[in-house]
Amino acid sequence: MHYGGASVPHLWRNLTALQVAVLAFVNFSFLFANNTDSKVSTTPAEPYHLNLPKNPFDYEGVMVPEYAKQFDLQGTTHEITNRGATLGRVLFYDKRLSVNGSVSCGTCHRQEFAFSDSRSKSIGFNGREGIRNSMSLVNLRFNPTGKFFWDQRATSLEQQVLMPIEDPNEMGHSITGVRKTLSRDPTYLRLFSEAYGDQSISAERIANALTQFLRSMVSFHSKYDVGISMARDVRLPFPNFTDEENLGKTQFFGRGRCAECHLPQLHGNHGDQPQFAVFQLHEPVVNGIDIDEPGRDQGVGMVTGEKRHIGSFRVSSLRNIELTAPYMHDGRFQTLDQVIEHYNWSVKPHPNLDSRLEDFSANGMALPEVEKVALAAFLKTLTDYEFIKDPKFSDPFVRNENVIAGSAPND
Ligand code: HEC
Ligand code: HEC
Repeated sequence: MHYGGASVPHLWRNLTALQVAVLAFVNFSFLFANNTDSKVSTTPAEPYHLNLPKNPFDYEGVMVPEYAKQFDLQGTTHEITNRGATLGRVLFYDKRLSVNGSVSCGTCHRQEFAFSDSRSKSIGFNGREGIRNSMSLVNLRFNPTGKFFWDQRATSLEQQVLMPIEDPNEMGHSITGVRKTLSRDPTYLRLFSEAYGDQSISAERIANALTQFLRSMVSFHSKYDVGISMARDVRLPFPNFTDEENLGKTQFFGRGRCAECHLPQLHGNHGDQPQFAVFQLHEPVVNGIDIDEPGRDQGVGMVTGEKRHIGSFRVSSLRNIELTAPYMHDGRFQTLDQVIEHYNWSVKPHPNLDSRLEDFSANGMALPEVEKVALAAFLKTLTDYEFIKDPKFSDPFVRNENVIAGSAPND
């Protein structure tokens, strides 16, 4: 996982002159290819330059469809500015937020995987594996509980975003150290000044900029969204779906009982009501992946110390679920078929098992093969290909890895 400074000299020693020439050519054409965009700096000796548009991307005008607006629980109370979210984007992808300059938020939350990673358990700055699966970051502003992490230990997004920086398994840094590093970089002085009117860099501003970026990450361009806007009623077949996807939708809302947890009634402006947009649990629950035994991750129970919470977990939105494998808090399932098989025959007894799954635990969900396959096909209609390609959420750093490796700040 380390972008090994140590291995670089060996690499160069073993290359022939021709290989070196080819590498140099590739490297320079890469720089020129990017020259059409405006950049903060282009000096090759610098560790990086930023590929930011002259006029910032539009983060303020987040497009939330009508059927989701009333559940936009944090979006309306937390201001997003184009300059603030731009700063957040740069911070999100800056490896100097980790103590040895090796990982950024974007290392474990990759756009191509809907801001999750493809490992069962993420690897931090020191090459060590953490204890849980990375969570996909999508529509966080709709989070009905306002709490974050699998065990909900962060009680706001502002609190959450600073925690990975100081986590000894993730980025291993300190906020004071990060502030010092950023204060020495003229690019950041300019970005902070553009976002907040002056150059001062504080923990609050770092958190605020990161949360502006995260709250702008909204995904409503899936096949499912096209379907709901055409049919207007989730119970009707969607005209843009295949027969298989429509059959899968019926399982999701019917026999599979998936919607009861993953698409819960939400408290909007007019009381609790059915909704078709926010695929996030109302509250953490036990879904029967483990029995209750010593040595198990106790999830929310560890945080609250309450028996009734043992084994319960929050889970990210099911939107883009096709891209966020592996699944569950410890990344134990590699495919959606395995997840469905869990609900089908393997729901385990647990004192806190959610009542909606008790029948499956006793008798199985027992979906026949065709319905099972259709359910997986339905889950894949939640993928938003615009979201994972949108340049405004992409990594703006063009790095010169050789310089970065040698000059990683170590505050
Ligand atoms: C080393 C990998 C790693 C890095 C670096 C990392 N994360 Fe995470 N992130 C994770 C993992 C793993 C989880 C789930 C951890 C848990 O629940 O205990 C997570 C959870 C989250 C969540 C909670 C999502 C939810 O729906 O509850 C947010 C938000 C988040 N990360 C944002 C960030 C930000 C912002 C940064 C950079 C400051 C960052 N992460 C850096 C691996 C990482
Ligand atoms: C009782 C509520 C409940 C029901 C019903 C339910 N789930 Fe879940 N689901 C959860 C919880 C809680 C988790 C996270 C568990 C964990 O990681 O420990 C989860 C996790 C998942 C995940 C993995 C998410 C990720 O990011 O890793 C998928 C996919 C999923 N469920 C799909 C389904 C499908 C499909 C159905 C219907 C057959 C279903 N669920 C029914 C509560 C439920």
